[in-house]
Amino acid sequence: MTAFTDLEDIKDLRSLLESAKTLKTNPYAFRHTGANKTLIMLFFNSSLRTRLSTQKAARNLGMDVMVVNLNQDGWKLEFEDGTVMNADKAEHVKEAAAVMSQYADLIAIRAFADLESRADDYAELLLNSFATHASVPVINMESATAHPLQALADAMTIEEHKTLQKPKVVLTWAPHPRALPQAVPNSFVKMMKLMEVDLTITHPEGYALSGEITNGVRLEYDQKKALEGADFVYAKNWSSYETYGQVLNTDKEWMVTLDKIGTASFMHCLPVRRNVVVEDAVLDSKQSLVIEQANNRTWAAQAVLKTLLEA
Ligand code: CP
Repeated sequence: MTAFTDLEDIKDLRSLLESAKTLKTNPYAFRHTGANKTLIMLFFNSSLRTRLSTQKAARNLGMDVMVVNLNQDGWKLEFEDGTVMNADKAEHVKEAAAVMSQYADLIAIRAFADLESRADDYAELLLNSFATHASVPVINMESATAHPLQALADAMTIEEHKTLQKPKVVLTWAPHPRALPQAVPNSFVKMMKLMEVDLTITHPEGYALSGEITNGVRLEYDQKKALEGADFVYAKNWSSYETYGQVLNTDKEWMVTLDKIGTASFMHCLPVRRNVVVEDAVLDSKQSLVIEQANNRTWAAQAVLKTLLEA
């Protein structure tokens, strides 16, 4: 693996998951791997879990970490080619990525979707520009359309908690007052398609994810029917892909409740809005895996960093 911009970069998922599992039981076994190596973490958006788990992962490997909140601390970047830079953008990504590569062995980037133009968001201009112009591997810490580090931790969590060879996993849309990107559900669906699970997606009409991603996955508009017999229920809001970035539905009937999920384990990437996306009774129950998912973010990130450092 020479970069981690999306799940397609993973050469061997089984061994990456095994590596994450090993690191969870012995976090400091590879402290030498990152000695005298530096990770730069660039944030264009807020983060709690990704920021802390990826730093912890890097430090467990003996790496130095530099964190840059680019919107606050950096020059405003230009990404287009051939622009006359006489407005507010002071630095081009060509120089920024090349310069950061002088100081770092790995560069990790968080840059959400703008949710204004689907074509622009799905072109992943920012992430791809860094990947093109950096001379060191680039890691996606959630881009416009993908959150592969989250999906890897989710896969690990399901592997740890499954009691059947092929569990039933349901990804359910849930209400949210704001328009949210499709990055987490996109990566979750892609990851589940790589695993031995029986996947169903449920959402209100108008909320279909990209057909390229959901191709071959069962869709059920009736949430109650979809949740029947589920072993894992993964809740997430996303804004419409078709009517791009719009909130079409805030129906509270789609909130996840204990009654709806039965004995299934509950998953969410966090942060989560209590009693909007999911009721307290679920999050406060033993069926909730959300803290374990967050814990596994460290080991998933550490497995990715280790693999990149060893490449
Ligand atoms: N799940 C996740 O990526 O959390 P943060 O946005 O807090 O990093």
